[in-house]
Amino acid sequence: NTLVTKIDKDNIDIQKIKVQADILRNGGTVIFPTETVYGLGANALDENAVDKIYKAKGRPSDNPLIVHISNKDDVYKLAKDINENAKIIMDKFWPGPITIILNKNDKVPYKTSGGLETVALRMPSHPIALELIKEANVPVAAPSANISGRPSPTDESHVIEEMEGRVDGIILGGDCNVGLESTVIDVTSDIPIILRPGKITYEDLLDAFLEVEIDPSILEKNDNIIPKSPGMKYTHYSPNADVYIVRGKESDVIDKINDLIDKNKEIKVGVMCINKNAHKYKGEVIPLGESINEVGKNLFKTLREMDKRKVDVIYSESFDTKGIGQAVMNRLNKAAGYKIIDL
Ligand code: TXA
Ligand code: MG
Repeated sequence: NTLVTKIDKDNIDIQKIKVQADILRNGGTVIFPTETVYGLGANALDENAVDKIYKAKGRPSDNPLIVHISNKDDVYKLAKDINENAKIIMDKFWPGPITIILNKNDKVPYKTSGGLETVALRMPSHPIALELIKEANVPVAAPSANISGRPSPTDESHVIEEMEGRVDGIILGGDCNVGLESTVIDVTSDIPIILRPGKITYEDLLDAFLEVEIDPSILEKNDNIIPKSPGMKYTHYSPNADVYIVRGKESDVIDKINDLIDKNKEIKVGVMCINKNAHKYKGEVIPLGESINEVGKNLFKTLREMDKRKVDVIYSESFDTKGIGQAVMNRLNKAAGYKIIDL
């Protein structure tokens, strides 16, 4: 039995928030919107509550959770060795779509940190998320609210279709504007390391730090590299169809995809592309957006839509990895299982 509540983020009904916050405080699970994707929350300090998250998602429990807070000072209650690098992120980018990794203190259960000595912390900017965490008055562990391995949910229908009946509460609060999960950055050492790319980009971080490293597993598949962010090692964002990225000169990509469609008449082929190219393709075309920001916002939604249309194969255009393009290509590569057709 799931209590489903609809809340307008521009005119928040605090009574409705309080009912869902009570569920969290009493050890239940609540799905709520954030600016990145919907999160599946529970009290981060309560091991039994956190267990319910892993069960609802079908998630391996060595995969640590992000702890969401509504107040920067809460960092000092959950982490230790809070250095200048951490403070720079908190000052410059919080509340917002970036998560910091710090050494955890004893209050944070290993269940939440996936057995690690570190904890992931984020103060989201979404008004519903902030109010909910504040009213619950506990730090809220929340992974993306999808069944493990599926694309993260970015709109109300995704959450209802996949999760109603699996959690105690759901807050529907409209679309998630970013559409990709937060940037994850390890600030436990002198040079910050990006473990997962997101809306706060490498370039944004270079404005704040002299030097920033990128975990090599972000950019390429390499079985010899063990990602520092445990979640990055799992298959992810997979629709039912097989996804291929087609990379090369734009006109060549269009010709190649149309050629593949012609040669495979017996199967249903989906195409994901930038808006301006949509009319050039045969097949089941879903334009991803005008700009790379829109592509980021629509990527997961589109992968789910392709499933609904029951396509057998998806061909996607490739995107430049500068700015948020790095996060887009990271997710797309994973959805494709790194299957790339290079022209
Ligand atoms: O935007 C987001 O971050 C969303 C919303 C709900 O806030 N949450 C989210 O959580 O994406 P999740 O659990 O799907 O992804 C958390 C990522 C995983 O890749 C996990 O391995 C990594 O963060 N992570 C968590 N704690 C970590 C730690 N202590 N050290 C390294 N990586 C960590
Ligand atoms: Mg996730």
